[in-house]
Amino acid sequence: MPMQERFLVDVDLSTVPLFRTRCLVIGSGIAGLSAALAAAAKGSVILACKSELGESNTTYAQGGIAAALADDDTVDLHIEDTLRSGCGLCDAEAVRLMAVEGRERCGELIAMGVDFDRVDGRISFTREGAHSRRRILHADGDATGRAISRTLIGATGHNPNIHVLENHFAIDLLHGDGVCRGALFLDTRYGRYIRVEAVFTVVASGGLGQVFRETTNPAVATADGYAMCFRAGARMRDMEYIQFHPTTLYLAGAPRFLISEAARGEGALLINQAGERFMQRYSDEGELSPRDVVSQSIFRELAASGDTCVYLDLRHLDPELVARRFPTIMSVCAEYGINILEAPIPVRPAAHYMMGGVATDVNAATGVENLYAAGEAAFTGVHGANRLASNSLLEGLVFGHRAGLAEPADRGAFAPGRLRKRLPAHGAKLDIDDISRSLKSLAWRNLGAFRDEPSLVETIETLKAWSRYVLAEEFHMRPGFEIQNMLTVARLMTEAALLRTESRGAHQRTDYPETSPAWARHSSLAISDME
Ligand code: SIN
Repeated sequence: MPMQERFLVDVDLSTVPLFRTRCLVIGSGIAGLSAALAAAAKGSVILACKSELGESNTTYAQGGIAAALADDDTVDLHIEDTLRSGCGLCDAEAVRLMAVEGRERCGELIAMGVDFDRVDGRISFTREGAHSRRRILHADGDATGRAISRTLIGATGHNPNIHVLENHFAIDLLHGDGVCRGALFLDTRYGRYIRVEAVFTVVASGGLGQVFRETTNPAVATADGYAMCFRAGARMRDMEYIQFHPTTLYLAGAPRFLISEAARGEGALLINQAGERFMQRYSDEGELSPRDVVSQSIFRELAASGDTCVYLDLRHLDPELVARRFPTIMSVCAEYGINILEAPIPVRPAAHYMMGGVATDVNAATGVENLYAAGEAAFTGVHGANRLASNSLLEGLVFGHRAGLAEPADRGAFAPGRLRKRLPAHGAKLDIDDISRSLKSLAWRNLGAFRDEPSLVETIETLKAWSRYVLAEEFHMRPGFEIQNMLTVARLMTEAALLRTESRGAHQRTDYPETSPAWARHSSLAISDME
């Protein structure tokens, strides 16, 4: 039984309306918007997203964007912190490029109108875990992503070379013979297919948090980019590396709303149910330890106490500072009856960010000709085994821009004909919500911060069994395609987690608790390995 179809649908392309462009960008977070703007300087761009333009992980990013711009900071210190946090798995060249070019790209954001918070006219930098300097630029207190998104979306709107397709779900890349020539979309408003042919395609469709029961990610984060690039033959690296954010709001009925790491950067403390600080028992850097260490420490604390959450305490901080720096957190908590000036916030870790992804070089090129990937969908090697806080917006900005600058040779039109699924559909009646809930529970239970061989093997067997009838089905609606993508990518994550027989950064194997020098390398999976 093959792991996956090469295409999710059987379609006669000659019946599908065709649009042509020089550059197709899939995804409208910081990486997609940056790619579109860079590419628009050289020709036509179609920027497609499955929801509305602003609906991306970028928009929900709170803490900020890291760049060595403060007077007491240097690019070398930023690189050093990134490498230390990455536990030996970062690609040093990519990290250097990000730190160096990130300063320039942030300068461009400011010139475009992103109004980063200032004190006395000077940019005010905050601190987050594992940063040796106050290096994080933020906007509107804790709404940095929203401010950046707004500005970039405004710029794309004013650019005559960029044509935006909202509510267009990318089903599959138009690929064959190792070349990508665009993508097939479902226009979800009218339920019809369209195809976009492009000289080159940039997949910047974000992350996969929705695979997990507990996640900070919005509903759109359903692993689509990874799965479609994988089906097109791209190689995936380090898919075992999902980052768990230590502090998400934990209240029955409330969304798993992120409580920014910047709160700890400004002095918030983690306490247990007994009101005691506990982070020093696990790490000398306490609340400002690297993110993997804080999340794992919270899980250990909860396992020892049997409690369901710990608390983030801001009560000792200056109320004016809290109100100015964290207006969104304050107002969301207030909706659920928590005044953060007077009560600690119940929190626990949740799936937040995929550090692996579609393998790319420093120019965002994948191994598939004329296919590029950027942002969370891509693996550039900058995050290693544990992403340094606020390096993700920076990565999307820098490598999205690089992707948009690509000038690959035009390989001509896609040969018209059929896209074919390989397995005949069973025609089984499928309850997609039920599959989705089951997958989320399985991933949370067995692909969480601590893994072991028996539970990973059980997960693979379960995913294979579900895939036999779910991947075979031919859907015509977005939720069906999304669950197929999530099943595919959950399998990739599990296979990679099983391969890595060591513990390093965010990947902790209880049956292999040591870091192994033999594993100071990336895991790697492609469709040819899985059949
Ligand atoms: C946060 O504000 O804590 C999230 C920042 C990040 O994920 O880098």
